[in-house]
Amino acid sequence: MAGYVVMGCQWGDEGKGKVVDYLAKKMDYVVRYQGGNNAGHTIVVDNKKIVLHLLPSGILSDKALCVIASGVVIDPFVLLEEIRILKENGVNVDHLRISDRAHLIMPYHIKIDALQEAKLGCAKIGTTKRGIGPCYADKYTRIGLRIGDLVDFDYFKERLTNALKIKNETLVKIYNEEPFDIDELLEKFKPVREALLPLIINSSEVLNIALAQDDDVLFEGAQANMLDIDYGSYPYVTSSNPGIGRVISGAAVAPRYIGHIIGVVKAYSTRVGEGPFITELFDEIGDKITEVGAEYGATTGRKRRCGWLDLVVCKQAVQMNGLTDLVLTKIDVLSDLKEIPVCIAYEDEEGKKHYNLPSTIAAYKHLRPVYKVFKGWQKDISSITTFEELPKECQEYIKFIEDYTKVKISMVSVGPDRENNIYLHDIIG
Ligand code: GDP
Ligand code: IMO
Ligand code: MG
Repeated sequence: MAGYVVMGCQWGDEGKGKVVDYLAKKMDYVVRYQGGNNAGHTIVVDNKKIVLHLLPSGILSDKALCVIASGVVIDPFVLLEEIRILKENGVNVDHLRISDRAHLIMPYHIKIDALQEAKLGCAKIGTTKRGIGPCYADKYTRIGLRIGDLVDFDYFKERLTNALKIKNETLVKIYNEEPFDIDELLEKFKPVREALLPLIINSSEVLNIALAQDDDVLFEGAQANMLDIDYGSYPYVTSSNPGIGRVISGAAVAPRYIGHIIGVVKAYSTRVGEGPFITELFDEIGDKITEVGAEYGATTGRKRRCGWLDLVVCKQAVQMNGLTDLVLTKIDVLSDLKEIPVCIAYEDEEGKKHYNLPSTIAAYKHLRPVYKVFKGWQKDISSITTFEELPKECQEYIKFIEDYTKVKISMVSVGPDRENNIYLHDIIG
């Protein structure tokens, strides 16, 4: 089967960009299907770092047509800037297409995101302030604007006029802010329209035709399962579904084409923003992981919170998405440690063990992690290319993750560069 999905199993930043970049060489299409420029996907080529926020991580491969599908929310100004920077760096971006149905993140969405966070005070989500939540909210209340609306600019004006009736009233009456001026906004969107019109396609049609003729199509998830609007640690989540469900609805492709669902698991846990994190470290080991793993947000630059690997979290990603393969990343970051605990269950105050995530934040307060402690390998593994060469302790750590999740680990990433990989099973059948 020709459809492949790469998705994050934890709280994001597992190294999805690197995995997609590796697989993209063999793909005919690489598709973003949800989220927006809250994502930061890093690719390192010959020590040079490229961070992509909206463009699919297949953009560096000339072979794959890169598609931003209808489930994505697009800030057109960020998109055009990202294209400009890549072109300036000699990257060809002619193979980019955008869905006519993708929603536009408008300047008022970004403003409202920041204002809502400020109003919530200490109850804030810790969003990336990129307008993601307000844009998805407008999509579902049906006052959103879509890429395809730009084609007929009079229609775009009509849609914007209607949206501003509500948005400006919100800004003025609730937040005591200045309203947006329709003419100024329309002027800003004229060059956006010119630049985007040639890229617009019906992505569902293009992708279903491609899949039907057995072309290889890779769907690139952003964020991760614990940030899922339904099954993440609500309300500390993003506003989309990063998993398999959104591939089907966000790219509008038939489920029968999806054969490989690849979950990316970081060898420890990180989280950016607010919300529960049962295995979080508050000591010097946590600080060390932050430094060695360079755990600073690729989008906002915020320090990522660090903790031990939580297999209860990973198991939920496996179950909800029917993962067929795992890619384990950043295991090199743990190389110096004497001991490496892994969370295998949660325990409540009565000593009862739990193997699933609670549905409310209130319940997290009563849970503590149950750890299985592994001996560290204390050797540099970043230049190793085969599983057999890895220290025995490292092999045991990897095998345990496989046993617990009951999903094969097909690739282990031991460094940020394209070349720093150990291949265990062929992902592309
Ligand atoms: P994404 O959002 O899932 O694509 O991940 P990010 O790009 O936000 O964060 C992953 C970070 O880890 C990036 O800086 C990558 O270059 C880096 N990285 C990826 N894989 C590895 C690895 O195996 N080892 C190390 N040390 N760094 C890695
Ligand atoms: P990638 O694709 C890590 C987090 C934010 C915040 C919450 C809601 O690089 O893995 P939003 O702006 O989406 O409304 O913020 O989600 N978040 C991410 N954390 N990696 C990401 O993307 C994220 N995208 C959003 O920090 O806690
Ligand atoms: Mg990231």
